[in-house]
Amino acid sequence: MCGIVGYVGHRNVVDVIFKGLTNLEYRGYDSAGMALLDQNEIKVFKSLGKLINLKNVLSESSAQLTAPTSGIGHIRWATHGSPSLENAHPHTCTCGKLAVVHNGIIENYKELREELIKKGCKFRSQTDTETIAHLVAHEYENAKDLEIAVRNAVKKLQGAYAICVMHQNVPDVIIGARKNAPMLVGVGEGENFIASDTPAIIEYTKKTIYLDDNEIAVVTKNSIKITDIHGAVINKKVETLPWEPVALSKLGYKHFMLKEIHEQPDIIRNILNGKIYDIDSPVVLNEVKIDKDTLKKLNKIQIIACGTSLHAAMVGKYLIEDFAGISVDVEPSSEYIYRKTTTDSSTLVIGVSQSGETADTITAIKQAKEKNSHVLIITNRPDSYMARLADSLIPVNAGIEVSVAATKSYIAQLISFYLLALHLGEIKGTLSGDFLKNIKHELIQLPTKIEEILSNASSIKECARIFSSFKNFIYIARGINLATAYEGALKLKEISYINATGYPAGELKHGPIAMLDETMPVLSILIPGGITYDKILSNSEEAKARNAKLIALTSSDDENLKALFDVVLKIPHVCEILSPAICCVPLQLLAYYIAEFLGKDVDQPRNLAKSVTVE
Ligand code: M6R
Repeated sequence: MCGIVGYVGHRNVVDVIFKGLTNLEYRGYDSAGMALLDQNEIKVFKSLGKLINLKNVLSESSAQLTAPTSGIGHIRWATHGSPSLENAHPHTCTCGKLAVVHNGIIENYKELREELIKKGCKFRSQTDTETIAHLVAHEYENAKDLEIAVRNAVKKLQGAYAICVMHQNVPDVIIGARKNAPMLVGVGEGENFIASDTPAIIEYTKKTIYLDDNEIAVVTKNSIKITDIHGAVINKKVETLPWEPVALSKLGYKHFMLKEIHEQPDIIRNILNGKIYDIDSPVVLNEVKIDKDTLKKLNKIQIIACGTSLHAAMVGKYLIEDFAGISVDVEPSSEYIYRKTTTDSSTLVIGVSQSGETADTITAIKQAKEKNSHVLIITNRPDSYMARLADSLIPVNAGIEVSVAATKSYIAQLISFYLLALHLGEIKGTLSGDFLKNIKHELIQLPTKIEEILSNASSIKECARIFSSFKNFIYIARGINLATAYEGALKLKEISYINATGYPAGELKHGPIAMLDETMPVLSILIPGGITYDKILSNSEEAKARNAKLIALTSSDDENLKALFDVVLKIPHVCEILSPAICCVPLQLLAYYIAEFLGKDVDQPRNLAKSVTVE
């Protein structure tokens, strides 16, 4: 949610910042802007909407620029104030000599703004961020030292911030500070960077210093100084990023989403490699740092997550209860944090997050830590703040996910839950040897089955064509695939803006059946051999009797289904317990192709952002 890039060094400043923002654009695209130090003067350029518009503004204004030597840039996902040019970052102080970009929300900005207006500051936007510009400028007037001014200013801020500040009287110095929002320093040679996330700097350096809360980084092209809120210098570890810039390329696919869907078989292979050596050996999950005796006695788990990660958590609940017999609660992080929970030191709390940055989940995890629970984090970003809060960390290793709609990270989370549930079951001795062999064998087969779906996607594309004109959908399922129905419907909503709802098939008759007619297609997830098949078939019949168009997603070979369903989407044979890892793929493709037919912006759907860093 929003993205920050700051640069000082020998390269073309505009190009470096623009490239960095391009690699962060999946985080927000309401507006973009840059402040550049050029000929001892701060020059600000802004545009509305996608980043490409900023490129146009910059080329139209090229006559105003000679050779900028440092700068800061931002892409915005609007929180305070509508997406408009005045509200776009960077924001400047009254005299325009100081510029700031900001991610997060300043909760006490109204009080600060009133005070600053009384002191003569002229505000030009509705944002909370502009308050920071005036506040730092005001502190600078007193302290005559930008570092001290930033330190004094952030002490007055309440809420969440990652900020990057520059002042024309302090040339080629960029200052970053953070609290409850990610920020890092990219370490180069004769150049240095400040950014809100690693994709912004990966083209130029893999060396990174992660700032912690209340730390301030003063960065020039040849120096990096990090201090705490009191000004004491801190020696921080320089870490090396684990991935390559190629991860940010579409590799010939039309969209990142399609590329990421196609990466799923190899992601599963990578995750299983090193965790399941053969079907006769236990799962190796050294990442879980709880001793075996404690694990054996464990009788309560709470899983907290948001969005797609929440759906993975729902599958996880089902698996852990089934394999290990441990009771599991699943809750949206944003609900967990506002109630009195029963979390205590004997609860294992699992946080699930693709980005590791989601504010709701971070707050929930912090609350669980305060109750002395062991916190296990399942994330795609082992470099994230959430990962650093973990007592145990399972990195899902899906690689950078650029498309705002989560796909490959979801399947990676699911596979991590299969491994965790098996691991817990093996420790507790709740699973038979035959079951363990079979399930491990079937897990290893998953990538090939998904490849089969991906190479026969034409039926899904045709289904998307037929149904792309419908305005409403219901996805029904029971048991372990209820989460699949939720996730399939969420994918469709996110990228096509169609009103799609996941619903427990058995609940249809308790209300939503009233909405059914020929305008409301019902998609049923039917896995034969399991305990839910016949019941969902009956629920589908009930929908048919109300003239709903029916789609089946099934591994059944029953030819009679063609008489009941308007479209039958076939998937390879799979046991019910593993079917969520197969069924999610055609639903991702269905959502993708419908959005494609409708001409939607698949990778960057309106109103969304990849990391939701506000509560
Ligand atoms: O990074 P997280 O997994 O914590 O993010 C949670 C949700 O914001 C995220 O899953 C969101 O729902 C995605 N857009 C789903 O496609």
